[in-house]
Amino acid sequence: MRLNVKTIYALCRRFDHCSQHRFNLRYLSTVELSEQQKNKLESGTVKRQALKKLLDGPQLKDFITKPQYELASEDVPYLDNTNFGHHRKVYFDVHGCQMNVNDTEIVWSILKSHNYLKTDDLEDADIVLVMTCAIREGAETKIWNKLENLKGLRNKKIEKNIKPRMKIGILGCMAERLKEKILEKERTVDIIAGPDSYKDLPRLLAVTENDQIAINVLLSLDETYADIMPVRLNENAVTAFVSIMRGCDNMCTYCIVPFTRGRERSRPVSSIIDELQYLSDQGVKEITLLGQNLKDLRWLNLPVYKTKLGGLRFADLLEKVADVNPEIRIRFTSPHPKDFPDEVLQLIQEKPNICQSLHLPAQSGNSNVLERMRRGYTREAYLELVEHVRQILPNVAISSDFICGFCGETEEEFQDTLSLIEAVKYNTAYLFPYSMREKTTAHRRYQDDVPQYIKQRRLDRMIHLYRGIVKSLNRQKIGQLQLVLVEGYSKRSKLHLAGRNDANIKVIFPIGEIPVQDDSSSCRSIEPGDYIVVQINDSTSQCVGTVSGSG
Ligand code: SAH
Ligand code: SF4
Ligand code: F3S
Repeated sequence: MRLNVKTIYALCRRFDHCSQHRFNLRYLSTVELSEQQKNKLESGTVKRQALKKLLDGPQLKDFITKPQYELASEDVPYLDNTNFGHHRKVYFDVHGCQMNVNDTEIVWSILKSHNYLKTDDLEDADIVLVMTCAIREGAETKIWNKLENLKGLRNKKIEKNIKPRMKIGILGCMAERLKEKILEKERTVDIIAGPDSYKDLPRLLAVTENDQIAINVLLSLDETYADIMPVRLNENAVTAFVSIMRGCDNMCTYCIVPFTRGRERSRPVSSIIDELQYLSDQGVKEITLLGQNLKDLRWLNLPVYKTKLGGLRFADLLEKVADVNPEIRIRFTSPHPKDFPDEVLQLIQEKPNICQSLHLPAQSGNSNVLERMRRGYTREAYLELVEHVRQILPNVAISSDFICGFCGETEEEFQDTLSLIEAVKYNTAYLFPYSMREKTTAHRRYQDDVPQYIKQRRLDRMIHLYRGIVKSLNRQKIGQLQLVLVEGYSKRSKLHLAGRNDANIKVIFPIGEIPVQDDSSSCRSIEPGDYIVVQINDSTSQCVGTVSGSG
């Protein structure tokens, strides 16, 4: 019987170790089968038996004449997959959301273990990896401009005869959205890698060594990078992000994320807790749990796609996370305002190290717009939720995202957004003009009919209203004592430190000394990672501080 490529591909998908590389038949020849899998194959169909023959056949090493111990990795790079990097220096240019920051830490961990180095000097880089975002057209325009600059830098290096040629990789959501279309516009790119293919980066980079272009944009149902311990880009930082899920199934009509990050899946609990323990041992003092839609999933000890049964609910997971180290502050983003779980609110009330700040992304204040956006709640339900949250957590800080100028948004509908911002009085808000994305439901179903200048004007009106509210909320903090986690020097002055309070508001204060624990007679300088209590004596719309005009 002939086994065509399509059949091998289908059979290959049945084995776990191939699920990440199912596109690449080369891996078949190096697969080691477990006894269980061998038995499964033996009792299987003719096709399976044919595959077994293929797998039992000669392996790559059988075609190599030198004994393995005499081979250098340059001869056969597949044999020593830890040395792909040859100490080449990688520069990371990170755009987009916190998830991209965390993904870059995963990529850095993978490349570090393959003998690459990291550089913070672009001029010095052998490889530049741009972690991209596709959420709005503006985010992609920034990347195209960046590529122009990188092209200039590479040409300069070629003129100076610097070898090997600097490689440029496009990673993340824009890579996933545009795939090989990126090359139609920009031929300078060597690597295109989507959010689920980072484990393949060492191989992709090896392919580019012969000046070939390497692309892997396959999305996965089970990749959560559970077996990779991310290496933080700034190892001295006292704050860190931990992804607890990937993908999104919500399909809000305006949003590209489900298309760039694939289906929703939760990361195994043990891998989350191990990472938290590791960060705790490293002295990290604040951890933000990340996911596009935190509350619908279940967490087990394996990646889970879509089950609503068994395992831990988000509140159970949050409790476990908070218990890892009560000295570590826990934040999480984003829960969805639809069916917000009460248990999470109770838990925040009970656990002092879970911050009293909630991100409740409203997107619009008008129920018709919310329906067109397919958000699953009305203005009234959202306001009820806010009231309920404030009943249980009277001091909670609430943040949100808003989009203005969505398809068909009238002036009246927009005014409902302004009145919602006014009614809720958000401590933080991220405000965006609508940007239509291909593939989304809105692109198929609606007209992007609000003119650009009106979107801009509505955005300005939202910003103006929001800033006024925050200024007054921050002013109310004057005179209060706030517990602040010190993060480092203030951006503007080495005479001031910056940190954040429980509500995630930036607090600026002068450098100073605090008593040494267990010895009140001696003092030491305040350092990043210290929790200190400060009295607020001034404020702006961005931050509160103990010194006027700093920040
Ligand atoms: N999963 C998160 C959102 C991630 S995207 C959540 O649901 O909260 C971050 C924000 O970008 C969204 O909340 C939304 O306000 C904004 N956004 C998404 N798509 C957009 C688009 N097409 N145009 C403008 N803003 C958009
Ligand atoms: Fe996008 Fe909606 Fe998913 Fe958030 S919940 S990532 S806005 S589809
Ligand atoms: Fe984040 Fe942008 Fe992707 S917001 S999920 S990097 S599209």
